[in-house]
Amino acid sequence: MSRFRNHLAALLLAALAPLLGVRAFAADSDLSMKSNSIDKQPFGAVDGKAVDLYTLTNAHGIAVKIMTRGATVTAIDAPDRQGKLGDIVLGFDDLKGYLQKVPYFGAIVGRVGNRIAKGRFTLDGKSYQLAVNDGPNHLHGGLKGFDKVVWDAAPVSVRAGVAVKFSYLSKDGEEGYPGNCRVEVTYTLGDDDALKIDYVVTTDADTPVNVTNHSYFNLDGAENGGILDQSLTLNADRYTPVDSTLIPTGELAPVAGTPMDFTQPTPIGARVPLVGDNPKGYDHNYVVNGGGGKLAFVARATGPRSGRILEVYSTEPGVQFYSGNFLDGTLVGKKGAAYRQYSGFCLETQHFPDSVNQPAFPSYVLKAGDTYKSTTVFKFSAK
Ligand code: GLA
Repeated sequence: MSRFRNHLAALLLAALAPLLGVRAFAADSDLSMKSNSIDKQPFGAVDGKAVDLYTLTNAHGIAVKIMTRGATVTAIDAPDRQGKLGDIVLGFDDLKGYLQKVPYFGAIVGRVGNRIAKGRFTLDGKSYQLAVNDGPNHLHGGLKGFDKVVWDAAPVSVRAGVAVKFSYLSKDGEEGYPGNCRVEVTYTLGDDDALKIDYVVTTDADTPVNVTNHSYFNLDGAENGGILDQSLTLNADRYTPVDSTLIPTGELAPVAGTPMDFTQPTPIGARVPLVGDNPKGYDHNYVVNGGGGKLAFVARATGPRSGRILEVYSTEPGVQFYSGNFLDGTLVGKKGAAYRQYSGFCLETQHFPDSVNQPAFPSYVLKAGDTYKSTTVFKFSAK
């Protein structure tokens, strides 16, 4: 009887979905199981624009919430070793939370994620001065980067999962960057329990482009403590050492024999006191072994208490591993958790910081008429 009711409900939802502008469909013939779905809800307004919250759910119950402001991932519910779902990213229950001074929780950052020294670069013989918003440097696209604008969004159909495409036109001169840039970010939650993020960017004038997602993960749930006992493996034999303002020196240094070495699974906190940053912790770009071409293995993290596992794959040559050093407990997020130092970690797949000023690094300059393509996969499991 209840199965019959579920069946009816699913049919009704499928019939109504197009009218509601929502895609919803059952992926499984056993409708007593959860099925793939996309739900869209209003999530407030900012700058006079309505913000929507999409929830993508797969057949195993994994749910990813993404709002149109900043194309921001606001929640990821993933099962622990007992199958119990728990939220593994930092964030807020409502839009208001995100309108505080928030360090890019879950957002897409760009036009150029990470730092550009002194906000300056020269391209095609012309000099550009961008906003300086991180000490002496430009960080994550400037004062109003991709994380702070409201994106358009629409569900797209994919074979094995559910997907929403977010798009944004970054106009010529926005935040000082040249060229009208059309940016598309598609989040696909697959039946393989992976969240795939595909980035496609085109421009009508040469411009640097380096977009990434800035989720802060805490695999045991931020309300249960910090990430220092969570284990990390990075598929990187080298990293890009930085100066005191976190600009790479240009060197690709071996991690072997240093606290930077995560080639074997290691608790994040095991050597934090030895990392000489201020405040202390990791905030470094690693050079992914074999990265920068086809999808390559980047990282694996595990939560000892929950058994949750996160695996990261990317086409990007680098990953910024950030251990949440600047969090100081003033932001209080979901489930009332105060986000203290080391409450979450980020794995920002990307081109190396300041590449626009470092000719030896792989270039992220997108030429007019060319298409920038990048893919990163976050895969969830538990053991
Ligand atoms: C990136 C940077 C960090 C910090 C965070 C946001 O990860 O590399 O230095 O700015 O964003 O606080």
